[in-house]
Order: sequence, then C-alpha cells, then structure tokens
Amino acid sequence: MTLAGKRIIVTGSTSGIGRATAIAAASEGASVIISGRRQPEAQACVDEIVQAGGVASAITGDVADPSFGEQLIAQGAAWLGGLDGVVNAAGIIVRATAEATSDDDWARQMAVNVDGTFRVCRAAVSRLRAAGGGSIVNVSSTCGTVGAAGLAGYCASKGAVISLTQAMALEHGAEQIRVNAVCPGAIETPMLAGGHDDGVTIEDVRAANLASIPQNRIPGPEEVADLILFLLSDRSRHITGADLAIDGGYTAQ
Ligand SMILES: NC(=O)c1ccc[n+]([C@@H]2O[C@H](COP(=O)([O-])OP(=O)(O)OC[C@H]3O[C@@H](n4cnc5c(N)ncnc54)[C@H](O)[C@@H]3O)[C@@H](O)[C@H]2O)c1
Repeated sequence: MTLAGKRIIVTGSTSGIGRATAIAAASEGASVIISGRRQPEAQACVDEIVQAGGVASAITGDVADPSFGEQLIAQGAAWLGGLDGVVNAAGIIVRATAEATSDDDWARQMAVNVDGTFRVCRAAVSRLRAAGGGSIVNVSSTCGTVGAAGLAGYCASKGAVISLTQAMALEHGAEQIRVNAVCPGAIETPMLAGGHDDGVTIEDVRAANLASIPQNRIPGPEEVADLILFLLSDRSRHITGADLAIDGGYTAQ
C-alpha cells in the first residue's frame, strides 16, 4: 500500500475529484479527513471508507471562511495524530467572460479557489514540518496554464494556485515539504455539468470538450486521484513545484 500510515486531509472531498482521492487514499492505507460544506455527503464518504476497512473522519466547513483553514488543519491533525499530506480539491467555477463577470462572482471564485487553498496550505506547513516533511497537492486546472474563453475568473484563480504552489515549493523544499499542483482537463464530475447557459445539455458539454482532447475521452475523477496519490506518496519524493497536466493531451496542442 503506497500510503500506509500516512495522515491526510482532503478538502472538497464530499464530491468529484476530492471524494475519489479520499477513498483511493484510504484504500492505499492512509487515514483521511473528509471535508466539505455538506455534512450528509461528508458522512457518506466517511461511511464508505470505514465500511471498506479504512480510517476516516469528517470536518465540515467553508474554505472561504477565513478561520476555517486553520480550524480544519488543527482539528484534523489532532484527530489523525499528525499530518503527512493535504489535498486542496475544493473549488468552484463561474462560467463567464471577463466582461460579463460581476465583482461578486469574481470575489467568490477567488475566495474559494485561491484564498481557501492559501489558508489551508499556510496552516499545514507547521504540522508537516513537525512530521519531518510531507506533501501538499493543489488541484489547479488546464485553465491555470492556458486560457479558456468564457472562464476568465476561473483561469485567473487557477493560475494563482500554480504560482502559490511554486513559491511554497521553494520556501519549504529544504524541509522536504513538497508542494505540487495537478492540472486536470475536462473530468466527469458534477462541476463539468454545472453552471452552463440555459439550453446547454451535458451532451453538448461533452461533445465540445471531446473535440479538443487528443485522447478523445473524458475520464472519471478516479484517474485524477491516481495522480494525486502518486504525489502524496514517497514515490514522488523528488517532485516539487510541479504543475502536472492530466488532460489527454489538451495542453500539448
Ligand atoms: N471537473 C473538471 O472538469 C475539473 C477540471 C479541472 C479542475 N477541476 C478542479 O477540481 C477540483 C474539484 O472539482 P470537481 O470537478 O471534483 O467538482 P465538484 O463540484 O464535484 O467538487 C468540488 C468540491 O469542492 C467543494 N467546495 C466548493 N466550494 C467549497 C467551499 N466554499 N468550501 C468547502 N468546499 C467547497 C464542493 O462541496 C465539492 O466537494 C476543483 O478545484 C476544480 O476546479 C475540475
């Protein structure tokens, strides 16, 4: 088991990529804190892990709340008995051009995707240091490395996540605290289907994405979880400050 004995906190693990990551990490031997805003979904994820013989507990809250990052990491590390890894998967998307983005939508997206990730990273550092090192994995997006029309604020937020990741990798490299970003392309989760203009169906969304993905397939969140697990594990011990695309070739074009 590649994560045997590891103590890991996953934000946004009530759904999609975070949920798949938490379940996969537990199946690889990690003890896991599930976190999201919705208590029933968080508890359902905990139950699924525990029924499979794993170790998990839930801490619910909103990562946009300025006090939640520290609270999550403090309570989570206390329950786990220390901290070896953190995954920042909580995120939202607002589908609008820059011209059509309201101040509120811009601020909300930054508060969750950037501020939330930052505060969880900041709080994690001292606990990872106490463990002699560790791994932070931030879920960015292909939208953090290349532009996407109609997603201006989302692109800006995911670019900021990569910049934060790089700077923190430098700040903590010598302490063996690794900080990496993953950059998924289109992934089959509730986020892919949500927030589109009226009349746009999920079939339309899939067709538009498939047309731009060289592999011509849209994977499930388990495939992103596989990459995140590698970055959490000691098998990636010399990888830090990276932003790794998992996009079927989309950004190679
Ligand atoms: N699905 C995709 O195509 C795709 C592509 C690239 C990147 N991503 C990124 O992957 C991450 C996970 O997204 P997903 O596709 O699994 O979508 P999702 O909507 O299924 O999951 C998002 C998770 O974040 C949580 N969340 C949202 N706002 C929160 C808040 N304020 N506080 C705490 N939790 C909050 C949600 O409850 C949910 O658990 C996001 O950061 C997203 O931007 C997704």
